[in-house]
Order: sequence, then C-alpha cells, then structure tokens
Amino acid sequence: MNIQLINPSDGGVLNKTPEGLTQNGLVIYPCKNGAYRIVKDDNYTENFGYQWNKFAGTQVDKSSALSISKSRFFAESQWDKEDLGGKNILEVGSGAGRFSQVVLDFTKGNLFSVDYSNAVEANYKNNGPNERFNLFQASIYEMPFAPGQFDKVFCFGVLQHTPDVELSVKTLIDMVKPGGELVVDFYPINGWWTKLNAKYIFRPYTKKLTHEKLFKKIEKNIDWLIKTSRFFSKIGIGKLTNRFLPICDIDGTLPQNLTKEQLREWCILDTFDMFSPQYDQPQKISTVIGWFNKYGMKGVSGKYVHFENCVAPVVRGTKQ
Ligand SMILES: C[S@@+](CC[C@H](N)C(=O)[O-])C[C@H]1O[C@@H](n2cnc3c(N)ncnc32)[C@H](O)[C@@H]1O
Repeated sequence: MNIQLINPSDGGVLNKTPEGLTQNGLVIYPCKNGAYRIVKDDNYTENFGYQWNKFAGTQVDKSSALSISKSRFFAESQWDKEDLGGKNILEVGSGAGRFSQVVLDFTKGNLFSVDYSNAVEANYKNNGPNERFNLFQASIYEMPFAPGQFDKVFCFGVLQHTPDVELSVKTLIDMVKPGGELVVDFYPINGWWTKLNAKYIFRPYTKKLTHEKLFKKIEKNIDWLIKTSRFFSKIGIGKLTNRFLPICDIDGTLPQNLTKEQLREWCILDTFDMFSPQYDQPQKISTVIGWFNKYGMKGVSGKYVHFENCVAPVVRGTKQ
C-alpha cells in the first residue's frame, strides 16, 4: 500500500490513526463515519451529498442485482481484474461508491476513494469497512496524497461537474506514477445542438432551487414524464422529442432490465442529477486528449465506449 499522505494545505506528512489524520501528533482531519474529512460539507457539491445519501444503494450493483457498474468499469478502464491485485488505485468523485464496490469485490487492489461531498457516508455504508478501502472527503484540487504515487487513477462521471475541467485533468495526471494509467469519462458535447435540451434550458432555474424543492417537483412529475418518454420512443419519435422532456434519457443512459419500481427510482435520481449540479460542462474527446498530452501523458487515446445499452466518451493515457 504505502501511499504517502500529505496535508494539502502545507505539504506536511500525515499519519493515519483511527481518530483521524494526524500531523505532528495532532488530529488535523477527523475520521467520521468511515471517511477522513479534509473538507466540510458546505461546498458546491452539497446536491450530490443529498442525492447519494437518499439513493445510496440504487446504482450499486450488489444492492440492485444489476451489473451495469461492473460492465461500465471494466469496459471503460480496460483493466484486467488479476492485474489490479496489490495495485494502488485512486478513484476521484466516488459518489455512493458504485465503482468502489466493483474494485473492492472483483479485484484485490488497494482503493483510495475521494469525494468532495458527504456522499462518502453512503459509500462507506455500501463498501466499508474493508482494509483495502481508504475513503476521503476532499476536493480533486486538494487531495491528501503526495504526487506521482498511484498505479491506476480513474474518474468516472465527475469531470463535467467540476469548475475548471482542464485543472481537474491536470491534478489527476499529477497523481499517477510514471508508467501508471489514467482513465476518465465525461459528458460529450457534439455541437451547439447538444445544449438544445431540456437539461440545459431549465438548469439556470433548477440549480437554484433548494434540494428538497427540486426533489419534490421531480417526484411529483416523474410518472407522466416516464409514460410520455416511453410513448414517444414506442412510436419511433423519441430520438427527436425526448430531449425536450425534463427527464433523464431513459433509452440511452439507463439499464434496460429495470423493474417498474427501479425505473421510477433511477429516473428520479438521474433527473435530480441532471438538474441540481452547480456545474455541467460537457467536453469534446479531442479537447480532453489535448490536455492529456499537454500535461505529460503518452499513448493517449479517446473513443466512445459501449457497455450494456449505454455509451460514454472515454480518454486514457500512461504517465511518462
Ligand atoms: C455524478 S456524481 C458521480 C459519482 C460516481 N462516480 C458515479 O458515477 O456514480 C459526481 C461526483 O463528483 C463529485 N465531485 C464534484 N466535484 C468534485 C471535486 N471538486 N472533488 C471531488 N469530487 C467532486 C460529487 O460530489 C459527486 O459525488
């Protein structure tokens, strides 16, 4: 394991104790409910803390009896289960821990997971305690690790929700050790029409609502929205019309084998996830490839990766 922990504010060495991370014998960052707390909850990711604690098990394969998180993790990372044994793996933006679960249950790797929100509590409930699991509430911009230590770094579903996406990519690259690998996915932008979508039309209003108010609005309207979206898809016009409905993309982003109850739950969660974040900055594959090259990665490649009925743009590279 042997990952050197440092205080992101002054670079001093931190030690792990059951009470928290200590510096010169004093607890600087407490350990609460299974996670070391480098930051407080009141930051721009509070919406994510709210959603992941409310829907802690919804997208976690072992709770949902689905396999979408496992399929996505291995399809996007292209990493070999056996090869991850004993490796130090960094996951940034872990949410409720859908991918933490995959790493912990299907590999023998040592996992260090970071999230800026108190979603770390949902993650710990889903995946802790486990001696290979280390959980931190911290920002991607101020992580408690000395640079260049991780064999593998992944960041799925997160970059578009950070304020400075290029800086986020750079900080991830800083964490990879020479010869180690970084894989990221993100929301794609294809042209001006990407933003001709209910999500981008309503977000300036919805992201300002309190979480409770937004949640209630979604819950109240979800049933007719699901019916309408399904109807349009059934008569063959869904691709054209569903982008204007204020509901997540059922055909393109959700597993197709959900029960009726699961479908309702996933739709509420994913619709909240599209309307509540402070930042939603989709990227082009070519832009992200450019940043990988600029900040010292080699063998960089990017493409759309398919898993189950879903697809996501993925960029990968190896640290020089
Ligand atoms: C859409 S969720 C994805 C969570 C998880 N990766 C998944 O796919 O289920 C985005 C996550 O990124 C986290 N996040 C956003 N900005 C962050 C930052 N600056 N540092 C660390 N995590 C951040 C949020 O708190 C949230 O849990």
